[in-house]
Amino acid sequence: MLLEMPRHTEIFGSVKVHELQRVLKLDSGGFENPRAKDISSEELKGVLKRSAIVVPVKNENLNLLDGVLRAIPFDCSIIVVSNSERVSQDTYKMERELVTNTHDLTQQEILIIHQKDPGLGSAFHEVGYEEILEKEKLDGKEAGEEAGEEAGEEAGEETGKEKKEWLVRDGKSEGMIIGMLLAKSLGKDFIGFADADNFVPGAVREYVMDFAAGFCMSESPFSMVRLHWRYKPKVVEDKLYFKKWGRVSETTNKYLNLLISTCTGFETGVVITGNAGEHALTTRLADLMCYSTGYTIEPYHFVFLFDKFGPREAEESAEKVGAEKAGAEKAGAEKAGTEKGGTEKASSEAANAGIEIFQIETLNPHLHEEKGEAHINEMLTGSLRMVYNCRLCNDYVKSKVLAELEGLEALQEDWEARSRWKGKPSHIMPPVGRIDVGKFMKVLKSSSESLLRCKQGATKCEVVERGRGEKKNETSSFYRP
Ligand code: GDD
Repeated sequence: MLLEMPRHTEIFGSVKVHELQRVLKLDSGGFENPRAKDISSEELKGVLKRSAIVVPVKNENLNLLDGVLRAIPFDCSIIVVSNSERVSQDTYKMERELVTNTHDLTQQEILIIHQKDPGLGSAFHEVGYEEILEKEKLDGKEAGEEAGEEAGEEAGEETGKEKKEWLVRDGKSEGMIIGMLLAKSLGKDFIGFADADNFVPGAVREYVMDFAAGFCMSESPFSMVRLHWRYKPKVVEDKLYFKKWGRVSETTNKYLNLLISTCTGFETGVVITGNAGEHALTTRLADLMCYSTGYTIEPYHFVFLFDKFGPREAEESAEKVGAEKAGAEKAGAEKAGTEKGGTEKASSEAANAGIEIFQIETLNPHLHEEKGEAHINEMLTGSLRMVYNCRLCNDYVKSKVLAELEGLEALQEDWEARSRWKGKPSHIMPPVGRIDVGKFMKVLKSSSESLLRCKQGATKCEVVERGRGEKKNETSSFYRP
């Protein structure tokens, strides 16, 4: 692959944000070129073999999911995390059969799990990662546990009133965290994400190759690759219009850049991937990051890294400006366990090594399912909220963000949403590095009813882990694209 060299790198504390790099060619001739980085197919393959690609899916067209699964390079493992309908129509069953069928034909390693599998919720509960669980269920659990203690019952048993059940919350971010843990259980060093609603399989393949190229360029074990789509075509009056910027990403980038500019005193436009759904990170970085819920996960990556690894002086001055808020944030972070043993050590290693962020412009345009205005507004307000709550966000940036918000039609009438907006994000999930993956998988294997692992090279898709270790073969018959 041939990639442009980044022209500039913004150094923000320990965070290095490389300026946009274009993909010049999807392959290359192996020639020396000071303006371009030539990455051989062997190097790329080496990274792909150590990568898992997580595909979050919720009620997408199966033909699209099929294209995505077939496009992901064979050397990677694929992890499908589904939050699709299971009640009125069992969409998950069809997705699972699609996975089985794809594996039967290709023998590529694929795992699939359902987000609402109670066994999965139990596994998170057992390892103490409750921040990902539905709150109502947790409240129910607390009440139930008290009753259970009195009656001398063990946790997990029926109290007579309510059967305790832990379920993972809805949300794309929550699905991604599940995927990260499964990737870790496979021993992967790199974890990438690709949405399931992509119309063009060739583009998905390129995204994964771009991730690998980014990691080949990285000098730090703590790095992230974020993709910027060259175009996002729309149909305008019966014609395709090759739009460059989406409304959400343009606004998110503007304010993330303002955060950096006001801290350094030098205006910058370096961030162009604030909402990059298609991104990848090293497992070592994934282990020490905190994650925000739903679609705010991507802008929060920047906010987290700025808060935790941004320039010290800026942090100190921001703390002076908003000492109360900083204190509250710190308390919240401690409660969430962000500073626990291993992750603390890893964080100081990351601060020394530096955290590299690559932003690669794809050669392919991005064509995907459009989800409507309300969805766009939710992503936009969520992203602005992340910036507003960044520890480095000073009064000036706050006033700008609020002014942007004032102008949002969606919030003009929705007063309830406006009053909720400024509050601190409620679901910041602590680093996954603190989770004992061995224990998590042990509980999951014994209690999951939806996990399916199809190993690489097996001729039949084998249900390796299913309800208390039972092993049986599963072949597809239902969905054949
Ligand atoms: N497992 C799981 N759980 N998957 C989900 C959930 C969920 O609760 N909700 C959505 N998904 C899946 C969708 O099926 C899709 O494959 C992917 O997550 C992205 O969701 P979309 O609803 O299609 O998002 P989008 O296309 O509007 O936005 C995407 O691009 C943005 C950048 O433009 C997302 O990736 C955003 O996160 C990103 O910021």
